[in-house]
Amino acid sequence: MNTHKIAVIAGDGIGPEVIAEGVKVLKAISELNPEINFEFTEFPWGCEYYVKTGKMIADDGMEQLKKFDAIYLGAVGYPGVPDHISLWGLLLKIRKGFDQYVNLRPVRLLEGAECPLKGVDRSQIDMIVVRENSEGEYAGAGDWLFKDKPEEVVLQTGVFSRKGCERIIRYAYEVARKEGKTLTSISKANALNYSMVFWDQIFEEVGKEYPDVKTYSYLVDAACMFFVKQPERFQVVVTSNLFGDIVTDLGAAISGGMGLAAGANINPERTYPSMFEPVHGSAPDIAGQGKANPLAAIWSVSQMLDFFGYENWGSKVLNAIEKVMVERKHLTPDMGGTSKTNEVGDAVIEVLKRLA
Ligand code: NAD
Ligand code: IPM
Ligand code: MN
Repeated sequence: MNTHKIAVIAGDGIGPEVIAEGVKVLKAISELNPEINFEFTEFPWGCEYYVKTGKMIADDGMEQLKKFDAIYLGAVGYPGVPDHISLWGLLLKIRKGFDQYVNLRPVRLLEGAECPLKGVDRSQIDMIVVRENSEGEYAGAGDWLFKDKPEEVVLQTGVFSRKGCERIIRYAYEVARKEGKTLTSISKANALNYSMVFWDQIFEEVGKEYPDVKTYSYLVDAACMFFVKQPERFQVVVTSNLFGDIVTDLGAAISGGMGLAAGANINPERTYPSMFEPVHGSAPDIAGQGKANPLAAIWSVSQMLDFFGYENWGSKVLNAIEKVMVERKHLTPDMGGTSKTNEVGDAVIEVLKRLA
């Protein structure tokens, strides 16, 4: 029997509501296949913990997390704690501290998901965004000069290292080669005359090792326009940290909404645990009401299963999500339904049992 140790950080707002459903799905899978076992350890870290202790995570939190095979995270951030404190104190700390430099965010119109674009069918929205996840605009470098003086100036410095750019771009080329897909780089060298000129140069350099991969390069503003007008232009997409953040919310919007967008923060070398989480945040506007859509968190579970090598189960979870959406009997309000978060989770498990 294979046991996988999972650290569960449910976090803030709707985090605990959606994570409970993902954990339920993993437990159901281990019941359906006794060869697979998951051991869950819950950590209470997040904004409530901060209010009580002045810290977002225990002092030895990263040491504790290191021992796990994966981290399953809900959402971080809640009114009352400044976002830059909560996010840098927990989510970004983990992504950086565990060198999870690959953020894999599928933008795929699943069967049964509603697309707000006119005349677009499922075959036209099927991409994987490979977002740089460790540096770039999120380097955390900067300065605040002449505070509260008329000459006050703030600097937010993007840091693009050769190592950082090469490894993410190479990862994306590998995905494109393996899947026989095109690779599109999204950047902005016309205005960002250091970082994005460098990015484009490395995209071209690394590309010499992949003559079999057809490539495209878009400016981020035009890319956003084409996400909406002609999403079929994109297959594998590689982009910087901030641009990846922005285009994946846009990607969520065209493929079923924030309630259906999943992400995996991967440390490919497996020196540290990787982290699986929905793309959405803590959604304070609907927290505590049972309205949160758990499908994004459940799709992240599918990514975790793939990561552990159980691709068969990963696909089954995705199929189950699709069946639940096609049946339209158990959906949360964001998808036009009246079901509660836990009822949608139960529905996914029911279908999984049928598929097993
Ligand atoms: P958000 O993603 O929390 O919410 C945006 C909108 O989408 C809201 O109207 C919300 O109700 C809706 N929504 C999001 N997830 C949903 C779901 N599963 N089901 C149904 N509706 C859903 O973004 P925001 O409001 O900009 O941010 C709220 C807080 O979350 C902030 O503190 C922000 O910093 C934080 N945040 C955290 C993460 C993370 O932990 N990964 C990601 C994004 C935002
Ligand atoms: C995301 C979030 C985070 C990011 C925030 C909360 C720091 O928006 O995971 O998409 O920008 O990466
Ligand atoms: Mn985001």
